[in-house]
Amino acid sequence: MSRLSIVAYVVGIVCFIVSCSFSVFYGYKVVTHQLPTEEKEPNDDRYHFVLIPEELDNDYWRLVEEGARAAAKKYDVLLEYTGPRQANFDDHLKTIEMSAAAKVDGIMTQGLSDEQFSPLINRIVEKGIPVITVDTDAANSKRLAYIGTDNYYSGFLAGKALIADTNGQANVAIITGSFNKNHQRQRVQGFKDAIQSEKGIRIVAIEESQISRVRAFEKAYQILQEHPEVTAFFGTSALDGIGVAEVVEKFNKQKQIYIIGFDLLKETQKYIRKGTIQATVVQEPFEMGYRAVKMMIDLREGKKVPSTIHTATRILRKYDLPPYLNNIKGVR
Ligand code: BGC
Repeated sequence: MSRLSIVAYVVGIVCFIVSCSFSVFYGYKVVTHQLPTEEKEPNDDRYHFVLIPEELDNDYWRLVEEGARAAAKKYDVLLEYTGPRQANFDDHLKTIEMSAAAKVDGIMTQGLSDEQFSPLINRIVEKGIPVITVDTDAANSKRLAYIGTDNYYSGFLAGKALIADTNGQANVAIITGSFNKNHQRQRVQGFKDAIQSEKGIRIVAIEESQISRVRAFEKAYQILQEHPEVTAFFGTSALDGIGVAEVVEKFNKQKQIYIIGFDLLKETQKYIRKGTIQATVVQEPFEMGYRAVKMMIDLREGKKVPSTIHTATRILRKYDLPPYLNNIKGVR
C-alpha cells in the first residue's frame, strides 16, 4: 500500500466514525424533541381553534393570522384560518355558525355589529364554545374576552395628530371602511371628538370604502371633484389611506393635501416615505393573533383571562420609519 492510500484509508475511517456519531447524536435529539422541552409548553390536548376575519386575503389580517399561527405552533394547537373572500356580513356570520356546528374548541373573530354578531356570539357561548373577539369588539355580547386596539382612542389619536400636523386648519374628508361596523364607527367618533373644539377644522365629506382599496380610490376621486376645498383625508381602515394616496398623486396634489391613514402595510410605508401619506395609526395585528390563541388556551384550561386587553396604538410619521423596510417586525 502506498503512503497516499494509507492516508486516504485513515481519513475515510475518521469520516465514517464522525458521521456515525452525528447520526447517533441527532437521532437521539429527534426522539427526545418529541417530548416537551423548555421551549414548548406541555400540552396533551390538541385543541382546534378557528380564526375568522372579515376578509381572508386582506394583508392586515394575514398579519393577525401570522401571529395566531406562531402561537398555535408553539402551543401545539390546530389553527384554522377561514372567512369571507370579500368583506360580507352574511358570509362572515355563516362561517362563524359553521365553525360552531363543527364543534371547534374556540372561535376568534370580530364583533363587527351588535345587532348581527352579538346574538350569534351569545348562542355559541351558551352552547359551551368560547368566543374571543379580536380587533373589533362586541362589548355587550357574551364573548369571553376581547383583544385588540382601543378603536375609539385610535381615532382620537388620529384627530390629535391631524390637528398638530395641519396647525389646526383643515377641510377634512373621511374614508371609512364601513358606516355600520363597530370599530370603524368608534374610530370616526374618536376622531370627531378630538377635533370638536378646533374652529379651523371641518369635516366636509364622509364616504364608505367597504374596506376595498379600489372603492377608497373611487370615493376619494369623487370627493376631490365634488369638494375641491378638501385639504386633508383620514382613512380609517388599512387600505383606505393607500386608495386616497393614489388619487392624490393622480391629481398631483401631494403638496396641498394631508393624508392620515391606518396601519403599516408595505404600501402605506411606501407612500409615507414618498411624503404622500403624512401619518398613520399603527396597530399590533401580529400580537393580537398571538395573544388571542394563548388566551383561548387559558380559557380552555379553566384559567382566568382579562375581559378586555387593549394592544398598543401609536402614530407613525416619516421620521419614525427605520431606514430599511424589512426591519420592522410584523410588516407585510
Ligand atoms: C382594521 C381591520 C380591517 C382592515 C381592513 C384595519 O385597520 O383593524 O378590522 O379589516 O383595516 O383593511
